[in-house]
Amino acid sequence: MSAIEEMYFLDHGYMFPTETHCAASLKFAQEFAFQDDDVVAVTYPKSGTVWMQEILPLVLNGGDLTPIQTIPNWDRVPWLEEKRLAVVVDQLTSPRALVTHLPYHLMPPSFLKSKAKVINVLRNPKDVMVSSYYFHQMAAFLEDPGTFDEFMEKFLTGKVMFGKWTDHVKSWRHTALGDRIMYITYEDMVQDLPAALRRISDFLGCNLNDETIQKIAEHCSLKSMKANNMSNFSLVPKQYMDATKSPFLRKGVPGDWKNHFTSEQLARFTSVIRKEMEGESFSLPWSLD
Ligand code: A3P
Repeated sequence: MSAIEEMYFLDHGYMFPTETHCAASLKFAQEFAFQDDDVVAVTYPKSGTVWMQEILPLVLNGGDLTPIQTIPNWDRVPWLEEKRLAVVVDQLTSPRALVTHLPYHLMPPSFLKSKAKVINVLRNPKDVMVSSYYFHQMAAFLEDPGTFDEFMEKFLTGKVMFGKWTDHVKSWRHTALGDRIMYITYEDMVQDLPAALRRISDFLGCNLNDETIQKIAEHCSLKSMKANNMSNFSLVPKQYMDATKSPFLRKGVPGDWKNHFTSEQLARFTSVIRKEMEGESFSLPWSLD
């Protein structure tokens, strides 16, 4: 088996990293019994997943800091599809919060039948790609990204974990979820975190006062998360994630793509994404140029 075949396995045409996923974890996800008061944050990788693992416990518990100070992010708000869920599922307390990178059509039957709420965080795909490029350098369980050009081709053709960004975004726009789903952008969260937290809190029916919203905003700022050992991945051995190559919580800004894309790369990227989005009934919240 080649190194890449060992790093990923295919399921329903999607690449899953074997370090964190296996056939049994995907089966566990399919059989997972969603409850009506569960909340799931849906993201394409590198769009703000770990940020939501900080935000959701704070919002759902009225600003109580205990979960974010005592439980690693991957256990406090586990990934639906990862191996770890089976280990921690019995320790989750209601209302439970989960994250997932799965496309809509791979969500389990119990999710579709439940009233569980969904927050879909979207990020400008150019910044997603840049963030992912650095992540592939620091995460030993992911394929080496190669040059920026090479990685862009993999990203645009979906030869990366969880497939094409456009397919993921489209799948979560065409749902039968009605008002069970809320859409928010990473960029809105960076621009005005208290306003984003207010939207999230109202959507989840949490009724938080302004003081609590402010407190939560301080504790889930990039600076606070970088200082939180339960959220900054410092608990992960260097052989899996090497922060000296690139920290997981890297820059945390919109527009870093401008420091990376040549004008040719921008033209190529834009034309592929535009083509993939042709005929869609919704428009992307950012200009692609
Ligand atoms: P960058 O690599 O651009 O810095 P995910 O959790 O989905 O893997 O996404 C990781 C990206 O979210 C990283 O982007 C990380 O820095 C950013 N991020 C995480 N927490 C953040 C926060 N509190 N504020 C801004 N960005 C944050």
